[in-house]
Amino acid sequence: MAAGKHFAALMSDRRVHINDVAMRDGLQIEAVFVPTEQKIAMVNALSQTGLSKIEVTSFTSPKAIPALRDAEQVMMEIARVPGVRYVALAPNMRGAQRALECRVDEINLVMSASETHNLANTGMTLAQSRKVLTDIIREARGRAAVNISISTAFGCPMEGHVAPETVYALGDWFASQGADGITLCDTTGMANPMQVAELADGLDQRWPGVELTLHFHNTRGMGLANVIAGLIAGIDRYDASLGGVGGCPYAPGATGNICTEDLVHMLDTMGVATGVDVDRLLVCAARLPAMLVHDIPGAVVRAGKSDSRYPPPANIEAIRARALARETV
Ligand code: COA
Ligand code: ZN
Repeated sequence: MAAGKHFAALMSDRRVHINDVAMRDGLQIEAVFVPTEQKIAMVNALSQTGLSKIEVTSFTSPKAIPALRDAEQVMMEIARVPGVRYVALAPNMRGAQRALECRVDEINLVMSASETHNLANTGMTLAQSRKVLTDIIREARGRAAVNISISTAFGCPMEGHVAPETVYALGDWFASQGADGITLCDTTGMANPMQVAELADGLDQRWPGVELTLHFHNTRGMGLANVIAGLIAGIDRYDASLGGVGGCPYAPGATGNICTEDLVHMLDTMGVATGVDVDRLLVCAARLPAMLVHDIPGAVVRAGKSDSRYPPPANIEAIRARALARETV
């Protein structure tokens, strides 16, 4: 089959699920404290866009991440829409217990594939994190789903290369311990599409019954290309953040996630279903610069959708007349 037809066949009848992480991955790196009621209003607006999952906040130490020190209030006061899964990140048992008390639908636990980043991010060795996360899976059973986000899965900004076997072994462990989902995170945008394809090849049917998600940052402009590589490999779940905001405060050079509205717009134009209304997302994204007091990286919110049409130059007929006149000489 010609390559174009093969690609079209791979993309047909697909349904992509998007988890918007702007209110967690986006806000955790911000210097400004976004007022609690603005956070709640944004989650409520995102709940009306068709997203199947929203990462609402993070139950970390308020000293480590002061921007999210209002996690309880945000989680308790949002208007939950049936069908939307509301997630919160927790870095340790204390965070997981706080999240469970707020009746989150899903706890997102983090550990890195590289020890240096894990120490910087969570204060724990890999062995310690593995134990703590395993204990939390047990603690949460029957009360909330548990997703494990494996940071630096595509490379560590401090240690460099991360072997796929390291990532597979971590995933194997958590899948065997009853994790409901595993997210492979490219924390600082080091992944390239070939690497995504290679890593994904080893995942085919590896963790049956476990939701597999990819989490890309657009730090080096490869974010959406990596999504295409993931889609070709058969992966249908992606983290993305409204406006393309975000980044890990403990990873040198971290910048924003792939942008939710740019991702939905790309998939819409390709005819790939997401269930998300891009126009509603764009309304939400347009509110971000005022909320964060800085510009956002998202492209479509600035350029408009690719089916936007603009009036031609006012002198278009004069240009045509001149062009035709040239033909007759
Ligand atoms: N919620 C609230 N407070 C917490 C907490 C939690 N989940 N975990 C720890 N704390 C508090 C402790 O009570 C302690 O407070 P104190 O100084 O008043 O006694 C303080 O934070 C330090 O606790 P400690 O257990 O010594 O942890 P630490 O200093 O090694 O920090 C983390 C570990 C995980 C709490 C911290 O590094 C953190 O929150 N990191 C953020 C990770 C993150 O979200 N990264 C971005 C996402 S990838
Ligand atoms: Zn991230």
